[in-house]
Amino acid sequence: MHRVAVLLLCLVGAVIGEGEKGIPYVTPSEGRVWPKPQMEVTEQTYLIVRPATFKFRIVGKTCDLLEKALSRYMDIMFSARTKSPAAGYSKTKMFRGYLDTVDVHLMAECEKQPYLHMDEHYQIKVDSPDRPLEGSIIAASVWGAFRGLESFSHLLVADGGSYRVNSTQIMDHPRFPHRGLMIDSSRHFLPLSSIKQTLDLMSMDKFNVLHWHIVDSQSFPYQSDVYPDLSGLGSWTSRHIYTSEDVATVVSYALERGIRVMPEFDTPGHTDSWGPGQPGLLTECYKHGKPDGTYGPVDPSNEDNYDFLKKLFTEVTQRFPDHYLHLGGDEVSFRCWRSNPELSEFMQHLNITGDYAALEQYYITKLLELVGDLPTKNGYLVWQEVFDNGVELANDTVVHIWKDGGDMDRVNQELADVTASGFQTLLSSCWYLNVISYGVDWHKYYSCDPQGFNGTDAQKALIVGGEACMWGEYVDRTNLISRTWPRASVVAEKLWSAADATTNPDEATPRLEEHRCRLLGRGYGVEPFGPSYCDADIV
Ligand SMILES: *[C@@H]1O[C@H](CO)[C@@H](O)[C@H](O)[C@H]1NC(C)=O
Ligand SMILES: *[C@@H]1O[C@H](CO)[C@@H](O)[C@H](O)[C@H]1NC(C)=O
Ligand SMILES: *[C@@H]1O[C@H](CO)[C@@H](O)[C@H](O)[C@H]1NC(C)=O
Ligand SMILES: *[C@@H]1O[C@H](CO)[C@@H](O)[C@H](O)[C@H]1NC(C)=O
Repeated sequence: MHRVAVLLLCLVGAVIGEGEKGIPYVTPSEGRVWPKPQMEVTEQTYLIVRPATFKFRIVGKTCDLLEKALSRYMDIMFSARTKSPAAGYSKTKMFRGYLDTVDVHLMAECEKQPYLHMDEHYQIKVDSPDRPLEGSIIAASVWGAFRGLESFSHLLVADGGSYRVNSTQIMDHPRFPHRGLMIDSSRHFLPLSSIKQTLDLMSMDKFNVLHWHIVDSQSFPYQSDVYPDLSGLGSWTSRHIYTSEDVATVVSYALERGIRVMPEFDTPGHTDSWGPGQPGLLTECYKHGKPDGTYGPVDPSNEDNYDFLKKLFTEVTQRFPDHYLHLGGDEVSFRCWRSNPELSEFMQHLNITGDYAALEQYYITKLLELVGDLPTKNGYLVWQEVFDNGVELANDTVVHIWKDGGDMDRVNQELADVTASGFQTLLSSCWYLNVISYGVDWHKYYSCDPQGFNGTDAQKALIVGGEACMWGEYVDRTNLISRTWPRASVVAEKLWSAADATTNPDEATPRLEEHRCRLLGRGYGVEPFGPSYCDADIV
């Protein structure tokens, strides 16, 4: 026993090199880009970047969005907490010179809003054969320029007061167009500062969709002008709300990072908090022949409810410019609907007596119709039950798969079924980061592949991507960041990098460890994966 332990210590000790006393579980890589680029060539030679003289030079198109990003990255790259002692690299024969300017070449006019299928390609050249000793970031869209800036910042390795960057060529683009993170501001209110930190970290992992599960049964923090009573009576307090200015702040902060903000207003279930502010919206539940004072899902038999939804969603879609709206539709309990005699009568008229899935279909169909008719002509997502229950869906609906995270066979069957029906599909089942346990849990996130199901190429092409989810029952501003990050970074790599480059967690571990220290060094409270150390531990 003792000998085995000593042997293990020796093996691990050998990895971290002589002179080191601690035994971290892994030695971080240096200057590797996370998520892994599609194509990268790195040489042993390097240039030195000196913060005092370094600058970006705009050589193509420009706009406010780009200029803001450049000044932001000057701060991010040279953030205070990446000081490490000089390793003396500037004296070795691999030293090629100083990199004082990086050309930022944006080849087309900036677009005004990010969108599904936006162009995110970029190239980086540092001391490349065709441009020796020079640096450039080249992109066809401002979104690609953002991704390139982020990658460039990862190439820098702190070396005393300056930074090393190896001679490098990168050509990169995402594997999937929808790379999202879901946050929940109903179970606990999340202040704008937490949402902004989340967006910062998302951009540092090249996520491009914030799925904002803004309301649910527990609270209705969205402040509506057309229906002020919804938050007036449905939020935790009159201060636990998101005003229209707050929403605009989140949307523009995200825009500046190339991130879409997709709100979710989940109906007909998950709506308890909607009830007080909108009498008649929810179904009255009955007991022993009379209403028992409790309420269930939205009452599909009340025509007024569709007017209400239309007005509410008209406002919502004006505040959130993204084309897509998440309409929820999960976990509709039929218990209350079943208890209500007026609904039974209504169903009799529809010739669907006893068929509550058909009642749900009736509601969802009307909801999708009215959302499709809004002036903004939105597209929408629904959770998988809407598909599972056989609701007829418009052919451009995106079906969001979330169930059976512990049973990938079932998840893969669902992926096969939904795509066989021709619907675009988004995967979250295997990336419920709110479900926590002791030890290393990220290998299972890394082994989940949205296209790993048995299906044709046409089916696989219907996978638009995935989302990591952080449900808020046990999460508020105190643990949102540490519980989400850097575990969400693992999902980010699965959604950005090539499928065959993201199959080996052992290969990813040193790069992930470097990335975790990088984020910590930038000032975010991201948790560790195992025993290790970062320069940024010393504050
Ligand atoms: C970058 O250059 C350094 C110094 O020559 C070298 O030790 C390191 O292996 C290079 N990094 C990569 C990823 O090639
Ligand atoms: C219900 O069924 C009856 C008898 O088959 C039919 O006359 C009526 O039109 C149906 N109503 C609806 C709403 O489909
Ligand atoms: C959906 O159907 C419409 C009309 O039938 C068609 O024009 C459109 O191309 C279809 N879209 C998709 C995504 O299949
Ligand atoms: C994949 O699906 C095809 C067609 O449904 C079936 O014939 C085949 O056995 C499946 N393969 C696996 C590995 O499940």
